[in-house]
Amino acid sequence: MTLQEMINESNRIVFFGGAGVSTESGIPDFRSEDGLYRQKYDVPPEVMLSADYFFSHTENFYRFYREKMLPLEAQPNAAHKKLAELEEKGKLLAVVTQNIDGLHQKAGSKNVFELHGSVYRNHCRRCGKFFSAEQIAKSTGVPRCECGGIVKPDVVLYGEPLDGDTIDGAIRAISHADMLIVAGTSLTVYPAAGFVQCFEGKYLVLINRDPTPLDSRCDLVLHGKVGEILSQIQV
Ligand code: APR
Repeated sequence: MTLQEMINESNRIVFFGGAGVSTESGIPDFRSEDGLYRQKYDVPPEVMLSADYFFSHTENFYRFYREKMLPLEAQPNAAHKKLAELEEKGKLLAVVTQNIDGLHQKAGSKNVFELHGSVYRNHCRRCGKFFSAEQIAKSTGVPRCECGGIVKPDVVLYGEPLDGDTIDGAIRAISHADMLIVAGTSLTVYPAAGFVQCFEGKYLVLINRDPTPLDSRCDLVLHGKVGEILSQIQV
């Protein structure tokens, strides 16, 4: 069966995505040849994006974060737009994403579970006051609240737990789906990568440029660009 035929037959589709969904919007992923983790820094990016590093080297964290993790100009690509269209037509239940770039919402998706949080939500660690991504981008040094507290992005850093409600919502959607499309992810980071195991529906599809550990268990594997592939889909 083709991807189009599977989508035609399904009306409880869930999409599980990673950084590869945003590369066609100009945001590098992490582990590809040109990914963020392949770029040379004194301190490895995986270390700089850890909770320990945030609390022990906050100024250095923010220097890296502002430079590399705030793609506020990026626009949704064909993948984000097609998913928003599928949701609008009542065929897609939810998007579950590991991305923190907000592009699914920018494309119009409403039911989005952001497993690793979002750069668009930032809070003072002392009083809880909200700060926008733009305020963080414009700040210098360590962004502080008027109360003196340090502002932290609502992004799941290495060593931090995922949000319980987000996990519940994502797992409920995946276990209720009749079709799961997994795309743009190396499926190497847990617990996120483990959630796809909750799928019990009819069609398990993988759309990824490189092979993943899930390939052998899928009904359909498409090795290509997810934006290009989804742009061909008629809703
Ligand atoms: N279309 C399809 N697949 C793509 C595309 C594209 N346009 N661009 C890249 N890919 C694929 C790559 O082949 C790779 O397998 O997307 C995958 C991206 O994998 P990673 O870079 O590991 O990103 P991801 O799986 O989202 O990483 C998970 O790791 O560092 C943490 O929190 C971070 O959420 C991230 C998590």
